[in-house]
Amino acid sequence: MLRPLFLTAAFATLGFGLPAIDKGPVGMDPTKAFNGWMTWYDKEGGLGIKPGACGEINYKNQKIVALNKYQFAELSNSANPNNAAVCHKKIRIKHEGRETDAEVTDQCDGCGYGDIDGTQAVFNELVGGLGAGNVSVTWSFK
Ligand SMILES: *[C@@H]1O[C@H](CO)[C@@H](O)[C@H](O)[C@H]1NC(C)=O
Repeated sequence: MLRPLFLTAAFATLGFGLPAIDKGPVGMDPTKAFNGWMTWYDKEGGLGIKPGACGEINYKNQKIVALNKYQFAELSNSANPNNAAVCHKKIRIKHEGRETDAEVTDQCDGCGYGDIDGTQAVFNELVGGLGAGNVSVTWSFK
């Protein structure tokens, strides 16, 4: 889902991205942290089967996340989601004193603003098991 350009302009006006030199596009300032819920996904999310929003097939052993569709759209600069500016950006995710990094390669339609859906590899490294299923995280762009 793509947002009209005027929204991008509105965010810029609100000062979400101060001079963005070397910090990536508006909204990807690494000093800004987001709070949300993190879940994990597998084949039912298309892993190993169909391309994600960034255009390639990913696998469950990769350290990747699907970013909620709201922020994915906000941080896109192209009509083609495969070329979204947020694709392949690295994020650092924190949970209860642990942290790990992952790359954005897809968007999560069922996630709320701030939420991410990661592979088992990411979730397991961050949480130390898959059983919790859904944990509170803080994350930021690297
Ligand atoms: C994760 O847990 C939170 C808090 O209970 C809830 O709001 C959210 O919907 C859950 N996410 C999923 C995908 O179940």
